[in-house]
Amino acid sequence: MSPVPGILYAANWKMHLGPVGAAEYVARFLARVPASPGRDLWFFPPAVSLAAVAAAFRGRPDVLVGAQDAHWEPKGAFTGAVSMPMVAEAGARAVLVGHSERRHVFGETDAETGRKVRAALEQGLLPLLCVGEKLAERDAGRTAAVVVRQLEAALAGVGADGLGHLVVAYEPVWAIGTGRNAQPADAAAVHAVIRDWLAARGAPADLRVLYGGSVKAENVVALLAAPGVDGVLVGGASLDPEGWADIVGSS
Ligand code: 13P
Repeated sequence: MSPVPGILYAANWKMHLGPVGAAEYVARFLARVPASPGRDLWFFPPAVSLAAVAAAFRGRPDVLVGAQDAHWEPKGAFTGAVSMPMVAEAGARAVLVGHSERRHVFGETDAETGRKVRAALEQGLLPLLCVGEKLAERDAGRTAAVVVRQLEAALAGVGADGLGHLVVAYEPVWAIGTGRNAQPADAAAVHAVIRDWLAARGAPADLRVLYGGSVKAENVVALLAAPGVDGVLVGGASLDPEGWADIVGSS
C-alpha cells in the first residue's frame, strides 16, 4: 500500500475466474497497468484462485489480494467454508465482510459480520466492511439508520486500534449489478454519515470509505470526485482485465 493512502480501486470478482482464468487475467492486466503512486489496487478473487492471484501479483507493492468471505472460526466442521488463517496462508491480506450478497443471498446476520470483523483483525487481515440499504429502506427514508445499524453490529467491541486497520464500502443494494449507480451527491451524503459515526469512535481521519454499485468507466470519475469517496469497489466492470485497466487508469 502507499505510505499515504491513495485512491483505492477494489475489484470483487464474485463467482468468476478460477485459478487458470485468474492467472491469465493478471498477466493481461499487468501488461497494461504499471504501479502508480497514490493508487492502490485490491483484488478479491474466489477462494480457490487466491494463491494463483497472489503469486501472479508478487513484486507489485501497490497490489493487495483479499478473500471475498471467510468464517470466524479458525477451523472445524464447517463444510464448504474457509477460515481466516486459511485465506491468509493462501496469500490474502484483506477480507470482504458483510457484502450484500452474503447478507441477502446467504442470510448472513449483523451479528455474524461482527464475528468476522473481529476474527479478521485477530488474524492480521484488513476487513473491508460492506454496508448498504435495500431499495425499500431507501424509499422509506431509512438509509442512514440501516447503515448505522450495520456499522454498530459489525464493529461492536472493535477499538480505535482495530478501526485503524479497517476499510468500509458503502454499497447500496439497489445499485449492485443493476446498472443504476448512486448519484455522487447521494453517495457523498451516506459517506458523511459513515465518517461521522467512525470519527465519533476514534477512527483515524484517513480511514478509507469506498463506494460500490454499478461503477463503470462512464461514472467512475464523477463518483471519485464526490466528497468523502476514497475509492471504489467494483464487481462486473472489473471482470475484463483491459476494461478494468482503463478504469484504474482514469484518475
Ligand atoms: P457491480 O459493480 O457489479 O454493481 O457490483 C458491485 C459489488 O457488489 C462489488 O462488491
